[in-house]
This record gives sequence, C-alpha cells and structure tokens, in this order.
Amino acid sequence: MKILVTGCAGFIGSHCCEKLLAEGHELIGIDNFSRFYAKSTKLQNMQSFRHHENFTFHEVDLRDKDALHQCLNREVDLVLHLAAKAGVRPSIEQPADYIDVNVKGTQHLLDWMVQTGCKKLFFASSSSVYGNNPDGAALSENAVVDQPISPYAFSKRSAELMNYTYHHLYQLDVINARFFTVYGPRQRPDLAIHKFVKLIDQGHAIEMYGDGASARDYTFVADTVDGVYKAINYLQEHSGVYETLNLGNQTPVTLSELIGMIYTTMQKEANIIRKPMQAGDVNVTHASIDKAKSLLGYNPQTSMSEGIRRFYDWFLTQKNDSN
Ligand SMILES: NC(=O)c1ccc[n+]([C@@H]2O[C@H](COP(=O)([O-])OP(=O)(O)OC[C@H]3O[C@@H](n4cnc5c(N)ncnc54)[C@H](O)[C@@H]3O)[C@@H](O)[C@H]2O)c1
Repeated sequence: MKILVTGCAGFIGSHCCEKLLAEGHELIGIDNFSRFYAKSTKLQNMQSFRHHENFTFHEVDLRDKDALHQCLNREVDLVLHLAAKAGVRPSIEQPADYIDVNVKGTQHLLDWMVQTGCKKLFFASSSSVYGNNPDGAALSENAVVDQPISPYAFSKRSAELMNYTYHHLYQLDVINARFFTVYGPRQRPDLAIHKFVKLIDQGHAIEMYGDGASARDYTFVADTVDGVYKAINYLQEHSGVYETLNLGNQTPVTLSELIGMIYTTMQKEANIIRKPMQAGDVNVTHASIDKAKSLLGYNPQTSMSEGIRRFYDWFLTQKNDSN
C-alpha cells in the first residue's frame, strides 16, 4: 500500500515507519519538526529509514493547507495520522495551538483526503479523552467522553468527532485508536519515564506529583505499533468502517510502582521530591482492550519491567553515542 504518515519524525511515528517499510509498504512521511522537542532528536528518530528507497519525506506543517496540498500531489491508499501537539500540561498554557494543530490540522488533512479520493484513515487519539476515572475501572470505548479536563483531551475528542462527520459525509473508513501512555526507545523527552531516567542518570532528585497512587496504563511502543499495524490491515480489508478503540495494556501501574521499577532497573538509591498533583492530569488511566482484541487480534506482550529495561538499554546506547 501507499501510506501517508503524518508525524513520521516523532516517537511513535518513527517506529511505525520502520514497521511499515519492513512489511514492504511505500511511505510518504510528513513532519514540521515542531519545537516541542529538538529537531536533532527527530532527525535521529528517522535515521534508520530516512534514505530508504520506499520512503519520501516532506517538511510541511499541517496548519498550512496550501503547502500541504502542494507537496502532497500524489494519491495514497491510507493515511496514518500521528502528527499532533502532544502533552497535557503544556496544552493548559497554549490551548489555541492545540486546537490549531490537532483540530484544524486534522481538518486540512481530511479535506485533502476527500479531494484526492483517499478513503482510509487511522487517527491517533488518546486515553486523555476519558477524563477522570474515580474508581479506576477498565474503561471501554462505550464510556461517555464528554468531560475532557485539558485542552489536549478536548482537541483529540474533537478530532474523533470530526472524523465521524467525514465518515458520514464522504464515506471515509476510520479507526480512531486511543493510545495509553506509550513508552520505549525514543520516547518523547517530556514524558515521565524518559524524564525520570535522565534526571536519575545525572544524579538529580525526581519530582513526584501527588501521593504516588495515580496510575497509568503504560503501553510498550512495539505493542502499540503492532496494534497500529493490525488496524491498518483491518482498514485495508474492510469498508464502511468507523471504529473507536483502545490500544492500551489493561494493566495500570501506579506512579510509586513505576518509580520503584526505574530505580531498581538503574540500580540507584531513591531520591524523590513530593509535589502536589497537577491540574489537567487524570488520576488513573485503565484501558479495556477487549474490543481491539476481538476486532484486530491485538494482544500486547511486553511487561512493564521488561519495557523499562529496554528503554534504559536504549537510553544508555544513545548517551554513549553522543559522548
Ligand atoms: N506518546 C504517548 O504516550 C501518546 C499517548 C496518547 C496519544 N498519543 C498521540 O500519538 C501521536 C504521536 O505521539 P508521539 O508521542 O509520537 O509524539 P511526538 O511529538 O514524538 O510526534 C508527533 C510528531 O508530529 C509532528 N508535528 C507536530 N505538529 C505538526 C504540524 N503542525 N505539522 C506537521 N507535523 C507536526 C512533530 O514534529 C512530531 O515529530 C500524537 O498524535 C499523540 O497525541 C501519544
């Protein structure tokens, strides 16, 4: 298949590109190297496939509709839409940016799909759309999601709904996949595991927000990519599709447990500064993955301790390479 990958230079995007190229697909990648984190890191993310014969890259911003239409003048079979302004906390400071990129940018892409006749869309949504989950139960896709508690969550939910509108009006086949705290090699530097490992490695204390009981359904990136790949195959094989599903791990890990595992893996003494819980952060994320299991055969394999060990191996390798 010919696939357009938005956000191809990012953490999850770069892993998806590697998998799709290995499976023989032809990719067009776009990314604007947003300043959320360093361009050099994103170039490094793309290093293994930047010059692959089946990969073409365009540096373009989804907010620039004309530029998007100009550079994307080839038809594709499917769009894997991962580009976004990510992150809950910064979205509280800059809500308009999140709406510009995640809502308007998505709409530009949908218009481009309609114009060029591309009918298949995979959209990266987020567990944040569930808002707070007071009893910590596993949430299924049937849960009501009309109380987003951050502009980021709002932007992802809005894009899911807009995808439905385009499915209805223009018969696009759509899978909205809600990712749950993805981690692993190349994880974004703003995310907890990466941030903690870097601070501990440098001999600093880490900040723990809340009492440590908040929990995340961490998903190892290879498992997420496997879910993305299965969803793409599903889209290729079916028509009339509009599905929203969780790609999580169904195993929440508390912040205290996570921090303990990181210190154990790194063989360092704990040094923790306690801080109050941050506005916009949900208390628990916990995915029911029954739908992805039955629809796609999704079945995440990586335990948290194994995943952290693999992240730490990568962290040490790239640290040694840069010295
Ligand atoms: N990492 C997670 O835990 C997680 C959880 C839930 C959802 N998601 C979603 O998955 C997707 C990928 O996340 P990630 O962690 O790989 O983030 P990332 O920031 O590493 O990747 C996103 C990429 O999109 C690009 N981008 C941003 N704005 C753009 C624009 N206007 N035009 C073109 N490109 C643009 C960035 O430069 C970046 O390379 C995002 O949509 C994110 O919201 C991620």
